[in-house]
Amino acid sequence: MVVEQAPEAAAAEFDDLQGFLDLVEADGELRRFNGVDWHLEIGGINEALAQKRGAMCLFDEITGYLAGYRVSSNPFTSYRRTARVLRLPVDLEGVELLNAYRQKIRDIRPISPVTVPTGPVFENVITGADVDLFKFPAPQWNELDGGRFLGTGTATVTRDPEDAWVNLGTYRNQIMAPNLLGILANPGKHGRIHIDKYHRKGERAPVVVSVGHDPTVFVEASYNVGLNTEAYAFGGWLRGRPMEIVKSPIYGLPISATAEIVLEGYVPTPDEMPKMVEGPFGEWPGYYAYSALGETPVMVVEAIYHRNNPIIFGAPHVKAPSPTIFAVPLSAASIWDDLERVGLPGVTGVWRLGAWGGGAGGFFTVVSIKNLFPGHAKQVASVAMASRAGAYGGRYVVVVDDDIDITNAEDVIWAMGTRSLAHEIDIVRDVWTSPVDPMLSPEQRASAQWTSSRALIDATRPIRWRDQFPPINQFSRAKATEIRRKWGLE
Ligand SMILES: Cc1cc2nc3c(=O)[nH]c(=O)nc-3n(C[C@H](O)[C@H](O)[C@H](O)COP(=O)(O)O)c2cc1C
Repeated sequence: MVVEQAPEAAAAEFDDLQGFLDLVEADGELRRFNGVDWHLEIGGINEALAQKRGAMCLFDEITGYLAGYRVSSNPFTSYRRTARVLRLPVDLEGVELLNAYRQKIRDIRPISPVTVPTGPVFENVITGADVDLFKFPAPQWNELDGGRFLGTGTATVTRDPEDAWVNLGTYRNQIMAPNLLGILANPGKHGRIHIDKYHRKGERAPVVVSVGHDPTVFVEASYNVGLNTEAYAFGGWLRGRPMEIVKSPIYGLPISATAEIVLEGYVPTPDEMPKMVEGPFGEWPGYYAYSALGETPVMVVEAIYHRNNPIIFGAPHVKAPSPTIFAVPLSAASIWDDLERVGLPGVTGVWRLGAWGGGAGGFFTVVSIKNLFPGHAKQVASVAMASRAGAYGGRYVVVVDDDIDITNAEDVIWAMGTRSLAHEIDIVRDVWTSPVDPMLSPEQRASAQWTSSRALIDATRPIRWRDQFPPINQFSRAKATEIRRKWGLE
């Protein structure tokens, strides 16, 4: 029997960044800009489109650079592009998209990558004194950035020196010198743990940084897939077939064979490490909060591999609304799963509003429930606050009834304003936050005391007297539809 693949599914697959851009263009969601300046112009255009949840951008003929040396940005400001990379139906939005992802991840079966002898990533190989990171049109994205950031949507590959487990992580990369690159892997991130382990043994840490690749690789790298998941196996599962990898020539680390630009080298031991200022850079909370002298690991780049006409994969954060829509289904799904794991019934949705980071991190978490028993809402809020994806860099956890559209900030604020009491908000102090939290005082920042507080807000109708809670001043759906139809208002 011949099984025919659905034409849509066949056409929708992609193996590299160019393939994804072609798909996005066919969807009518790509904007091309030629003749732009890497200094602030790319960043300004990116911000304008990101904040209105607009098109993905492709910049070419960048001032001072050869045509073909391109920058892409704004990959995931639409639900459609997010669904494309998660390989979900493209017409899903909001909580429906999130639920489809939860269904999908329930059956996760990571698919190991296959190692191939070579790939397009080696079309150009630059080593030794020829290494020059300024060869690529890395933008100065924002007005107060400390320099040019080649890496914003990266995949940094490191290996644990103890058990050889390989990790992919997205950590920003500032160009510090023609052969020096900052790697801001914050303490606790896997890439940083690996680097520190080498350093404790007095050794240099081998590292590979991919700054252009299939967006599937970016999703895996910027999402906390979980320890022990083989690198590239999450991406393989997302796309339903193995990712193709090649071994990096110097340290044998796995690289996507179709990557656009990959840098290989090492992070010197702390004694050898050049003391340089990294940052500032526009971060996910919407500020320039973190910049430090000699804190950020600096990589010595020994080799550059790149395709002909390479494309930088740019995914810088901008002030809210946050551009990485894919982070919402991923982190909200993880909070929702945690709520179910502890046996909490009645959850009908989880969402994040305002600013959020990658797989975790977000100041405002909203959970909707069917309120089932006294204390239900506060229990939900406490678990959401403490779950892995909800804990990092949070501030407010709001629980609302299931008639609220949790993807709509106006609706959530209406519920808070009308169904909660300020004196009943519970505060939890001294909880985990991110070094880019703008409310860290200068003293906390200096002493690495990165904690903040949480407000748990029950904005559900009070369960003890909800039958007497005033009815909502809004037409019933049936009556509204009848009138709107009659008068052509739909
Ligand atoms: C666009 C984007 C940029 C990010 N930049 C950084 C960064 O500079 N430093 C960092 O520690 N985490 C950053 N993150 C978050 C990490 O990528 C995320 O926590 C990921 O899970 C890290 O991998 P790990 O958990 O294996 O360490 C970023 C996430 C995104 C989506």
